[in-house]
Amino acid sequence: MSAVIEIEGLRKTFHSLRNGRRVAVDGFDLLVEAGQIHGFLGPNGSGKTTTLRALLGLVRADSGRMTVLGEPSPQLLPRVAGRVGAIVESPQFFGNFTGYRTLRLLARAGGVPISRVHEVLEQVGLHDRGDERVKGYSLGMKQRLAVASALLKDPQLLILDEPANGLDPAGIREMRDLMRSLAAAGVTVLVSSHILGEIQLICDHVTIISRGRRVAAGRVDEVLAGHDRHEFLVRVAEPERAAELLFAAELTAAAHDDGALVVGGASDPTVISRVLGEQGLWVGELTPLRPDLESVFLELTGAGQHPGVPRQVDGSGLPPSGSGDVVIDLDERGVDA
Ligand SMILES: Nc1ncnc2c1ncn2[C@@H]1O[C@H](COP(=O)(O)OP(=O)(O)OP(=O)(O)O)[C@@H](O)[C@H]1O
Ligand SMILES: [Mg+2]
Repeated sequence: MSAVIEIEGLRKTFHSLRNGRRVAVDGFDLLVEAGQIHGFLGPNGSGKTTTLRALLGLVRADSGRMTVLGEPSPQLLPRVAGRVGAIVESPQFFGNFTGYRTLRLLARAGGVPISRVHEVLEQVGLHDRGDERVKGYSLGMKQRLAVASALLKDPQLLILDEPANGLDPAGIREMRDLMRSLAAAGVTVLVSSHILGEIQLICDHVTIISRGRRVAAGRVDEVLAGHDRHEFLVRVAEPERAAELLFAAELTAAAHDDGALVVGGASDPTVISRVLGEQGLWVGELTPLRPDLESVFLELTGAGQHPGVPRQVDGSGLPPSGSGDVVIDLDERGVDA
């Protein structure tokens, strides 16, 4: 596997008279390898767009090392720009142009053969609507036109910032199918989102960002497995007596909202059914509680952290010990790329 995107220790601070200094990205790391559909997850304002803008040279980073398709970015990005399609700022189209004309102009400007326009319209499922004016397009169709424009160059790497934003379930599903078909055709996709169910369905790898820092990264199933507490949902006729029996067997049991129990500490579900069955309590339901990305995301990015010191999966960009302040001065690191 070769790295398609590498980001190490990216830091970006915004300065404004009104809000003062704001650290948007704070020692962030990201690794996307060839062939991945990589989800980039984080709450609102966690630094996703800023990271992607910095990667593509749309905003100047304070420090950090970045490469795209092996070239240092943004310095040598032009060398690989022809192989990268990106939608980071929602593109504006002329409403009076048809989808076809829009893409034809972009193709001509980018030195792409006009025949490619039909191909990308087909790819995003707009081939039968290409002759209509963009102002008559739904939001989902405009999103697909944007993706089509990013595909004109037949990119090896596609970077999409919140492509599912504002789409209805059918639109989200189409976007998902499109990303899958691109991945099947060998395109590496980096897609940011805060729609967790979507990321779980589409992506094989994920990086979670919180307050400008990476808090989890890896294969989706491994990130989920790392948060599996091996608990079971248990339904029995007498939950209180069941809880007592489970406690006596050194298991944990907590009431669930609808009269069921959440039982932990059992290596194997048969332990639970045996403990209860032996006392004449028959288990009506015994379901393993698998973590989903939403619960992991909330655990990693939500409450329970020390303010300003979100967890980081590795040491990079960690605040100096004793610092509990989100504004950490790492300026002395300098730009090393
Ligand atoms: N041009 C800017 N000037 C000042 N602050 C900015 C600017 N752009 C972003 N920020 C701040 O940087 C932080 C990260 O913003 P960013 O847009 O990267 O978050 P995001 O993860 O993309 O959020 P969302 O999910 O809402 O799109 C926020 O606190 C935001 O207010
Ligand atoms: Mg954003």
